[in-house]
Amino acid sequence: MNTHNHPAHNSDNKISVLFGCLGNICRSPTAHGVFQLLVNNAGLSSSFNIDSCGTGDWHIGQSPDNRSAATALARGYDLSALRARQICADDFDRFEYIYAMDNANLVDIQDLCPASFNGQIELFLPVANNLVVSEVPDPYYGGVNGFDNVIDLVESASIALLNKLKNSVEIKP
Ligand code: 4NP
Repeated sequence: MNTHNHPAHNSDNKISVLFGCLGNICRSPTAHGVFQLLVNNAGLSSSFNIDSCGTGDWHIGQSPDNRSAATALARGYDLSALRARQICADDFDRFEYIYAMDNANLVDIQDLCPASFNGQIELFLPVANNLVVSEVPDPYYGGVNGFDNVIDLVESASIALLNKLKNSVEIKP
């Protein structure tokens, strides 16, 4: 990574991470909650600004999908404080690392991205080198197993993401 083109921190000196999916009620809130807890447990919450968003507007203001929330809670992740919102122009100023859950989300986010953006927009799962899939499948219209699959994939990628980004945390004297 070229640190001149991609400074590790935004203006408030935090590492800023935005997760994006379609509705912001299933996959990206799961990633948000899982990654936030990993960061908290590592004692790094003051060094990160973490959020999630959807490319669509159908669920603005809603809590995470009940199935996502229940599956996450059973695995130790409380998503109850999260509310869906749609991606907006400000996000490209406020966030440096933007992770899309699937290829459609990636293209949609790239289409909205201004030329002035100096961060990274990538698929989330390839951050982990060991996963056989590159997209988090949309669980919304599928069965219950889809939600466990989302957590499994998101947990693996979140662990890898924290390993990748924690090297950028400034050690203050
Ligand atoms: P998400 O799942 O993108 O993981 O939040 C979806 C939620 C809602 C819809 C599609 C996907 N929907 O069509 O309403």
